[in-house]
Amino acid sequence: MLARNRFLLLVMVGGAVLAIISLSLQFLNLMPTTPVVEDRLFQGADGGVGVALGKSRKRVFPVPHTQEPDAMAGASDYCNPPNRSEQAREGHSPADYKLLSVQMMIRHGDRYPIYSIPKTRRPPIDCTLSNSRKPSHPLLNSFISHMGKGGHGHWESPLSSVPRLPNHSACEMGELTQTGVVQHLRNGQVLQQAYRRHNLLPPNWSPSQVWFETTGKSRTLQSGLALLYGFQPDFDWTRLTVRHQLSTLFCGSACDCPARNRYLEEEQRRQYRIRVSDTELERTYVEMARTLGLPTRQLRAANPIDSLLCHLCHGIPFPCVSTGNSGTSGCLTMAQFAVIRRQQLDDEVDRRKEGLYHKYAILAMYPYLNRTANKMERVARGNEAGRLPRPGGEEVFTLSSAHDVTVAPLLSALGLEDSRFPRFAARLVFELWKSPPASQGQLKKRGSKGEKSKAKDGELFLRVLYNGEDVTFHTTFCRFYDHHAGQPLCPLKNFLSFVRRDIFRAVNATSYQEACHGSPL
Ligand SMILES: *[C@@H]1O[C@H](CO)[C@@H](O)[C@H](O)[C@H]1NC(C)=O
Ligand SMILES: *[C@@H]1O[C@H](CO)[C@@H](O)[C@H](O)[C@H]1NC(C)=O
Ligand SMILES: *[C@@H]1O[C@H](CO)[C@@H](O)[C@H](O)[C@H]1NC(C)=O
Ligand SMILES: *[C@@H]1O[C@H](CO)[C@@H](O)[C@H](O)[C@H]1NC(C)=O
Repeated sequence: MLARNRFLLLVMVGGAVLAIISLSLQFLNLMPTTPVVEDRLFQGADGGVGVALGKSRKRVFPVPHTQEPDAMAGASDYCNPPNRSEQAREGHSPADYKLLSVQMMIRHGDRYPIYSIPKTRRPPIDCTLSNSRKPSHPLLNSFISHMGKGGHGHWESPLSSVPRLPNHSACEMGELTQTGVVQHLRNGQVLQQAYRRHNLLPPNWSPSQVWFETTGKSRTLQSGLALLYGFQPDFDWTRLTVRHQLSTLFCGSACDCPARNRYLEEEQRRQYRIRVSDTELERTYVEMARTLGLPTRQLRAANPIDSLLCHLCHGIPFPCVSTGNSGTSGCLTMAQFAVIRRQQLDDEVDRRKEGLYHKYAILAMYPYLNRTANKMERVARGNEAGRLPRPGGEEVFTLSSAHDVTVAPLLSALGLEDSRFPRFAARLVFELWKSPPASQGQLKKRGSKGEKSKAKDGELFLRVLYNGEDVTFHTTFCRFYDHHAGQPLCPLKNFLSFVRRDIFRAVNATSYQEACHGSPL
């Protein structure tokens, strides 16, 4: 009872806080004991593992001791160690299709924990960059020296004062690690190979052709720069403008949306309910707290899963403390970790069932999706036959360097709710394609429409890829598109009508204004 009252109080106070700082902290945590942070491992109370969101829909809760290998597998996927060969379906298309633009959103790479577990030693990780430490990358040294010339770039405030490389021998909280840098150098290189034959960017691209934006955290800035460097090694700094997004939702000047905050609060109440009803989880927290000699509340507030994941990703044993004067010690265990992760899986199943998060996600990501759609239209128009290209060229490559609290709602808004939770260095890519111009024969067959000069242009298509996998036909707007019957790709117009209209159906509205403020403009 007491806890519940305190919770309601916090929700009310939290509502006021939300209104004030929702521009910079889109994902406030209103749970009683957890501090507010900007980046968390999962949307809610405790941080989380990168797990298969959808595969477990029908799962029966296994008994604890069978979960450990499972938890390990989930953690390895989440850690994304940069030593595996991976699939990359980017840049694949039917012959003669032209790639017009690529827009991508990434999550930053491997980072040091944001939380620390009281009374335990912080994981000893070196955040300086060195070619002699593993994992490394052939581009690492030249990347380091290139970052030293960053003064020649254009930097939106306050980014010019953010460090361009991680450089602390004992990592600071949330700092990008060498693993994180290597993950994004690899991402960049994968894309460089995928897009090379499509001549997406000319070697001397103009400043208007590349759009790079990031939040103000060093880990997102550095991650984006590493990807860009892997993609365009030794790029010309003077052509690059590094743009700042104040909100983790990348909503620019359209962040004001009271209904979004209400959905989020409801979602957090749901999450709180399911958590406190989980007796195994509660017991586990009590047990972990006892091991460390902490009040349970304090342990919960320390969000131990965030730190434990870092231990797992870096092969460091879980923290121990010596207890009493007998010199015996107690350690946190894999079994405890597995319980927290099991609860997160249950939570994700429940979240999808309730649908509140999806509604939040739609309103959260609409401004970004709207901007993405607008850019595609601009590029497509600039590419119409007979039209003079804009001086300097259209934006053909857009990179948005973001957080899990950005990529997760983006996946949900697109209807990709069965995707894996955004791992370190996750990448979501939108490709815009144009089919070859119709030949005279095809035009005749199509009848009068073909007589107009405009019809000589090819048609426009969209591909969506998540971590190198083509997920286009899993999205809400192309799921029911019969691609076997006609074109092999998803028409751009499906995406456009989704963003302009259909997306709001899930929140019973017809526009962003109406959905956010309750009345049509
Ligand atoms: C990659 O690295 C991880 C951890 O550093 C290790 O466990 C795994 O065996 C490695 N995989 C390969 C294919 O080298
Ligand atoms: C990292 O920091 C050290 C000590 O402050 C400095 O000497 C070194 O030049 C820095 N390295 C880079 C690449 O910024
Ligand atoms: C969406 O894009 C249109 C341009 O097509 C623009 O006028 C409008 O302000 C944008 N809305 C939001 C909420 O970003
Ligand atoms: C949807 O909105 C309409 C018009 O605002 C309203 O009459 C209707 O009750 C709403 N439906 C639901 C399910 O909320």
